[in-house]
Amino acid sequence: MFTDDYSDIVIEHFMCPRNVGIINNPNGEGSNGDPQCGDYLDIYIRVENNVIEDISFLVQGCPASIATSSMATEIAKGKTLEEALKITEDDIIEALGGLPENKKHCSNLGVRALRDAIEDYYENLGK
Ligand code: FES
Ligand code: FES
Repeated sequence: MFTDDYSDIVIEHFMCPRNVGIINNPNGEGSNGDPQCGDYLDIYIRVENNVIEDISFLVQGCPASIATSSMATEIAKGKTLEEALKITEDDIIEALGGLPENKKHCSNLGVRALRDAIEDYYENLGK
């Protein structure tokens, strides 16, 4: 069974991902795709007073991309933009209790799409 390779936390976030969909009135949108595997992630954020008040995602991809996207949004929620920009692939992998070696790249999607969404927010502000 493919689930044998995954930690309990990964399986839980895959089966029951957090923050799925499109939030109301996002003021930043970002995306990232992996050309190798074809997985693709969109992230939506609503920033108020420099804090990510709400965040959601839509992903098309493997179980690990679903779990890492879910965890990326959980980690980013409530953070300041400066803190959110510092979230790394390792932070996500660690919070998920690890990932199989060939699935570690899935955590790139969340990190890059989140940074892209924050950039989009700044652009919308005209900064
Ligand atoms: Fe081939 Fe879904 S992409 S079955
Ligand atoms: Fe490439 Fe999951 S297999 S992001």
